[in-house]
Amino acid sequence: MTGPQGLPRLLAGLHADGSPMTLADHRRVHGDLRRTQPAELIQAIDLAGLRGRGGADFPTARKLRAVAERRRAAVVVNASETEPASGKDKLLLSRMPHLVLDGAVLAAGAVGAREVIIKLGEGAHESLAGIEGALAVRDGDPVSFKFALGPDRYVAGEESAVIHFLNGGQAKPTLVPPRPYERGYQGRPTLVQNPETLAQAALIARYGANWFREIGTDADPGSALVTITGAVRAPGVYELAFGTPISDLLAAAGGSTEPLQALLVGGYFGTWVEATRALGLRLSREDLRSVGCSLGSGVLIALGESACGLHESARVIRYLADESAGQCGPCVFGLRAIADATAGLAEGVAHARERDRLLRWTSEVRGRGACHHPNGAARFIESALEVFSADIDWHQSQRCTARPVGLPLGGPAPDVRHALMEAG
Ligand SMILES: Cc1cc2nc3c(=O)[nH]c(=O)nc-3n(C[C@H](O)[C@H](O)[C@H](O)COP(=O)(O)O)c2cc1C
Ligand code: SF4
Repeated sequence: MTGPQGLPRLLAGLHADGSPMTLADHRRVHGDLRRTQPAELIQAIDLAGLRGRGGADFPTARKLRAVAERRRAAVVVNASETEPASGKDKLLLSRMPHLVLDGAVLAAGAVGAREVIIKLGEGAHESLAGIEGALAVRDGDPVSFKFALGPDRYVAGEESAVIHFLNGGQAKPTLVPPRPYERGYQGRPTLVQNPETLAQAALIARYGANWFREIGTDADPGSALVTITGAVRAPGVYELAFGTPISDLLAAAGGSTEPLQALLVGGYFGTWVEATRALGLRLSREDLRSVGCSLGSGVLIALGESACGLHESARVIRYLADESAGQCGPCVFGLRAIADATAGLAEGVAHARERDRLLRWTSEVRGRGACHHPNGAARFIESALEVFSADIDWHQSQRCTARPVGLPLGGPAPDVRHALMEAG
């Protein structure tokens, strides 16, 4: 069977009325799941250049090999989706669950696992319903599936937190090593993978590495699911080819509702980029790296000119500080101090020199936690101080009257109203 030409790929066959794709729909679009030899599948994923879509951007084949060479492996689908604005995993699990399940079955085969654990957030009712409905009609899968529902907290989706939780502990990160691929679920080597990564792997297994590379760029092959939200007419999850100009991403989401001042690229561990600069970039690691950012878990937030970037950043950094798992001093106290100082700048009650202290603190919290939480938060606030620098001075003398945008802070993933598939 030949793969879809152009786009959509992952979202091929998605029903516009919001109903899930049945097994028959799924087979009509993608055919039956072809059993693939473990080494052959890992090789195809390697040649395809697939990288993890949960935020860490790690080469998937390398992780598969690391688990495959150990014994008694397990597979965990990390469907925690703790990035507040992200909706892609919810879209996949609730509307096209068979593609994710195919990927999980294939990944389990590749690493020699007989058990797949699907870890979701407690509020992920639609995702759970989608997966349960899909499992009820599948037969012949050579693995058993289990579910685990964990707290909807930001750091609960970090892989060591997922493993700790599945092993009966709190959903908080643990010191690594050992990493999950060495010792994870029940002490076994564990492959932790994001649902989109698994769905992409299911397509590669069917259509091959060459097909995967037909779109995208040499360095960033294939397509990605991007949740586009904020000041756009049709916020939602969009499948786009790597290499697509960011301006086309916004156009796919209906265009902006007002002139933009900045884009937050990569979610709350991401980076604010001035709109004029961001609109000249493409969706590629190389372009994003040139302005110090990465796609993270695929969230893009557009900030209109009528909003106050400083206030919005102060809200988000307060949220991130409150989401610290409370285990590492620099993270707990450092992020709290950074949140307080940012609030002071936003309210205009702190001296502009506070910015220098803030920058010192961000450099001091970096790399000082058991997980990447302080690093992500530091990156976020450093970019805010740079991009909204003029606002800091302005807030010293003027009362800010901008209306809060209400960026999502925690809880289950937002409803996905629009899911459009644009050719890239
Ligand atoms: C604070 C924090 C939260 C995270 N939350 C998620 C999440 O909700 N879902 C996810 O897939 N990965 C999340 N990650 C990344 C995971 O640790 C891990 O890299 C990922 O699940 C691996 O799958 P992938 O290789 O398919 O991306 C998070 C990482 C950090 C540091
Ligand atoms: S760095 Fe922060 S979020 Fe990560 S484990 Fe330590 S206290 Fe928890």
